[in-house]
Amino acid sequence: MGISILLRASVFLSVLLGSSLADPRATLVAMICTNMTAVGSDRGPFVANFVAALDSLTTQLSSKGYGSVTNGGAGNSSVYAFGECMKDLSQSDCNLCFAQCKIQILRCFPFQQGIRGGRVFFDGCYLRYDDYNFFNDSLSPVDSTVCATEKFSGNTTVFDDHVTELGRNLSLGAPKNGSFLVGSVIGGNTSVFGLAQCWKYTNDCEKCLNNSFSRIVSCPPSREGRVINAGCYMRYSTEKFYYNNTASATTGGNSGRRLAIILGSTFSGVALLLIILTMAIITRKKALERRKERKLLGHLANKVNKSKLNFSYEALEKATNYFHSSNKLGQGGSGSVYKGILSDGKQVAIKRLVFNTRQWVEHFFNEVNLMSNIRHKNLVRLLGCSITGPESLLVYEYIPNLSLLDHLFVRTDTELLNWEIRCKIILGIAEGLAHLHEGSTLRIIHRDIKLSNILLDEDFTPKVADFGLARLFPEDKTHISTAIVGTIGYMAPEYVVRGKLTERADVYSYGVVMTEIITGKRNNSFCGNSSSILQMVWDLYANGRLCEAVDPNLQGRFREEEASRILQIALLCVQASGELRPQMSMVVRMLSDNCEIPSPTQPPFISSGLSGSASERKRSAISSFQIETDSHSSGTTMSDSFPAPR
Ligand SMILES: *[C@@H]1O[C@H](CO)[C@@H](O)[C@H](O)[C@H]1NC(C)=O
Ligand SMILES: *[C@@H]1O[C@H](CO)[C@@H](O)[C@H](O)[C@H]1NC(C)=O
Ligand SMILES: *[C@@H]1O[C@H](CO)[C@@H](O)[C@H](O)[C@H]1NC(C)=O
Ligand SMILES: *[C@@H]1O[C@H](CO)[C@@H](O)[C@H](O)[C@H]1NC(C)=O
Ligand SMILES: *[C@@H]1O[C@H](CO)[C@@H](O)[C@H](O)[C@H]1NC(C)=O
Ligand SMILES: *[C@@H]1O[C@H](CO)[C@@H](O)[C@H](O)[C@H]1NC(C)=O
Ligand SMILES: *[C@@H]1O[C@H](CO)[C@@H](O)[C@H](O)[C@H]1NC(C)=O
Ligand SMILES: *[C@@H]1O[C@H](CO)[C@@H](O)[C@H](O)[C@H]1NC(C)=O
Ligand SMILES: *[C@@H]1O[C@H](CO)[C@@H](O)[C@H](O)[C@H]1NC(C)=O
Repeated sequence: MGISILLRASVFLSVLLGSSLADPRATLVAMICTNMTAVGSDRGPFVANFVAALDSLTTQLSSKGYGSVTNGGAGNSSVYAFGECMKDLSQSDCNLCFAQCKIQILRCFPFQQGIRGGRVFFDGCYLRYDDYNFFNDSLSPVDSTVCATEKFSGNTTVFDDHVTELGRNLSLGAPKNGSFLVGSVIGGNTSVFGLAQCWKYTNDCEKCLNNSFSRIVSCPPSREGRVINAGCYMRYSTEKFYYNNTASATTGGNSGRRLAIILGSTFSGVALLLIILTMAIITRKKALERRKERKLLGHLANKVNKSKLNFSYEALEKATNYFHSSNKLGQGGSGSVYKGILSDGKQVAIKRLVFNTRQWVEHFFNEVNLMSNIRHKNLVRLLGCSITGPESLLVYEYIPNLSLLDHLFVRTDTELLNWEIRCKIILGIAEGLAHLHEGSTLRIIHRDIKLSNILLDEDFTPKVADFGLARLFPEDKTHISTAIVGTIGYMAPEYVVRGKLTERADVYSYGVVMTEIITGKRNNSFCGNSSSILQMVWDLYANGRLCEAVDPNLQGRFREEEASRILQIALLCVQASGELRPQMSMVVRMLSDNCEIPSPTQPPFISSGLSGSASERKRSAISSFQIETDSHSSGTTMSDSFPAPR
């Protein structure tokens, strides 16, 4: 009986903890953000390519342990990205490590403070992107040596010699062993363990590791040292940190198997008792170590498994044909969206998040739970999520008829949206937003209202997509910068400048969307030089000629009085002062009743001959990120949370 309990306990443990008993070595060694080139003008495509490159790398790494992406067409918007895991890691550890790596690289988000490249070195994996082809580089000016502060306490002369011998052997041996080698010098108290690896495409592995060797010998008497070069990685430590195929690995699966083997070949009662005792002690120790994690996972596993909101990662992978590019619907700052067909034939949209949620799994699941209860004809329904796989996925209802952005500005093969449809869309979005802000017990600020987030179904009913992302990622500051980069033209001035986020910021974005729908022009305020449509509409309003702003493609087929009303409401929504903007429920009333509309005050950023305004706004976007992070108590700003480029 004791045995069966023990066996069950050990099976239970290994199932529950699975790969978490192994160590993906997701320890951050260094992060280096670089700006190689002057900031070009094509920020949008670069960011889009960057996000797409991360997605593609994820897929490649999960099949072969490394990957490279040469992404994006012409000019200065090309993104090159490379990732690789240490060769001693198992595939599942590799996936875990890389997922963490991706979160960190977002701190080198493109265009923030002129950044156009970044490298993140973990002990288990590596990720780099840049705006030029660096795949063959073996050395670069920002390469660095990272020595631990903790010192070795024994005989340092011997230690020194061991590190030197090990470093030399690794640098000579790794190129001969297919660019990877682990090794150790064992000697009483002064054992040293080391690992060296050249990245897949490095031109000159010998030169790179020779350089690593010459620099790593400066680390002793530190207990641990690492050299990170553009083309290779070398590390020594007094702890055995790598996996050695022949060594007894310490994963739950293995100890289970060992136990079975031992049990099968031993019949002596005493031996059995001893083994059981030993196993019990080991199991208990492990259990104690992982108690916290197990508690969380166990509690959560129960809840997740019972929940209808839980989708298995494998099922979603299959539904999208392994995230095949032909199923890709679109791409946003927080991840790309794929069309999927579930095994029961139901069509869904699956969002693959760039962010990993491992740290706040439970919070994430609770939020998904809450948000899946929000139902409104003008909101895209969240059906569930997958949090157990290597990356986090959200599952939404599938809306077939493209986004407003596609209809208005991207696709030429769609029919022109007529006046009645435009009015219906404007009212529908307002109703959806009013429901988010005021209609349920949750108060949800969307924060990212823009044309591409308004989807249309068969009869052109608008559906607001992507709400609640802000709630899903409470601790993720990078999301803020992502949103800023994606949608600068839609953002309320108080949000851009002070990071102040209220419902009134959504009202502002909604006002911009309204204006774009009616005028058929994009609000390219970020691009600066051309005058913004808000300026144009404001000028026409001042002259009492609002109808001239209406999309010329409609060829006059619209109701003038209605057009003036809508544009005036739009101007109310984009007023510089947040307090003056109406609530969304008020907007709905003004759109549907014939009540009187107040006179709007001036929108922000408007004055005659505003020169250099674009760069000014860009700067404020960046400083608002810092304001956000500052106000979030931790007080770390971008500049002091990672090593500055050297
Ligand atoms: C990055 O760009 C900023 C301004 O564009 C500049 O001040 C800084 O020196 C640059 N850093 C590097 C490492 O080139
Ligand atoms: C970016 O591209 C434009 C036109 O393609 C070119 O004029 C400009 O010099 C490029 N900038 C950089 C930094 O490469
Ligand atoms: C990188 O090296 C490979 C072969 O080692 C070569 O085929 C390729 O052209 C090189 N690429 C660059 C950009 O130097
Ligand atoms: C360190 O070890 C070397 C060789 O074993 C020995 O000669 C030396 O005296 C030792 N130094 C100290 C401080 O113990
Ligand atoms: C040599 O390379 C192989 C393949 O990468 C690896 O599995 C093995 O552990 C390496 N040998 C040593 C001693 O590191
Ligand atoms: C790997 O483990 C085996 C057996 O424990 C040992 O003989 C070998 O030296 C180890 N290799 C390295 C590189 O540590
Ligand atoms: C390092 O290489 C030398 C010469 O090949 C060899 O004698 C020595 O045993 C090696 N040391 C280790 C720790 O592998
Ligand atoms: C190993 O280190 C301990 C203390 O750290 C010391 O007491 C012991 O003598 C050392 N043994 C050898 C063989 O150096
Ligand atoms: C390795 O570096 C040493 C100097 O640190 C140099 O003498 C030697 O030629 C280098 N070897 C290679 C293959 O670059």
